[in-house]
Amino acid sequence: MRIVIVDSYADMSVTAARLVRNAIVERSRLVLGLATGGTQVGMYRELVRMHKEEGLDFSGVITFNLDEYLGLGPGDPTSYYTYMHENFFNHVNVKPENIHIPDGKTLDPEATCRAYEEAIAAAGGIDLQILGIGVNGHIGFNEPGTPFDSVTRPVNLTRSTILANKRFFLSEDMVPRRALSMGIKTIMNARRIILLASGRGKARAIAGTVEGPVTCELPSSVLQLHPDVTLIIDREASSLLRGRYRVQGTEDSPGLAAEV
Ligand code: PGA
Repeated sequence: MRIVIVDSYADMSVTAARLVRNAIVERSRLVLGLATGGTQVGMYRELVRMHKEEGLDFSGVITFNLDEYLGLGPGDPTSYYTYMHENFFNHVNVKPENIHIPDGKTLDPEATCRAYEEAIAAAGGIDLQILGIGVNGHIGFNEPGTPFDSVTRPVNLTRSTILANKRFFLSEDMVPRRALSMGIKTIMNARRIILLASGRGKARAIAGTVEGPVTCELPSSVLQLHPDVTLIIDREASSLLRGRYRVQGTEDSPGLAAEV
């Protein structure tokens, strides 16, 4: 696991966007797994800037989003469909037919999830998966207790996630209780993973992810078993790491890089 510790949310966003850009430059038909949440907004903003000012070309990129609330979709201001279009897709040249977001309005969630897995396989698998992390260590909507062999499926949200996400809704009652989410196995099958975290609220989950036991009680800890994971975290999110990490500057990162 490679850890890049940066000073701020802005540095985390730029560092992550640069890694995504480099991956697209290396492989124009990149299969890119995408995440939503407050953490990712700055990275999308920087990718949009790179597209508009530097001509970063997304025309070959195929995207798969991690998750969607069950019951929400296009037209719902709080759906991940809307988040992705407002923050990213409306401003870059990803082809609409190359955008995949689980259909939260589906009448047959199980079949929709099976088809989602098939679409990922048909695209050749995910080359680069972007992740956020919940305060409870969830990745996607894989809540504590999720088996490591899980694939895309309907899930129930925990109370901790409902409380964490209610800031995006008018009231807690309006937060959907169910979602469709890629599974842990789906995520672990990605060839490369980048996880972003910012702020003190994520420090405990980050400490467990890096230094805790691998356990389904902290879903993100499974990333210790993946051969190519980069964590990009700000100082606050790194504040409960106990190990002494070697600190080094990197040319492409505005912050500090440490390896474990
Ligand atoms: P956040 O969500 O970026 O809004 O904190 C992250 C997550 O729950 O994965």
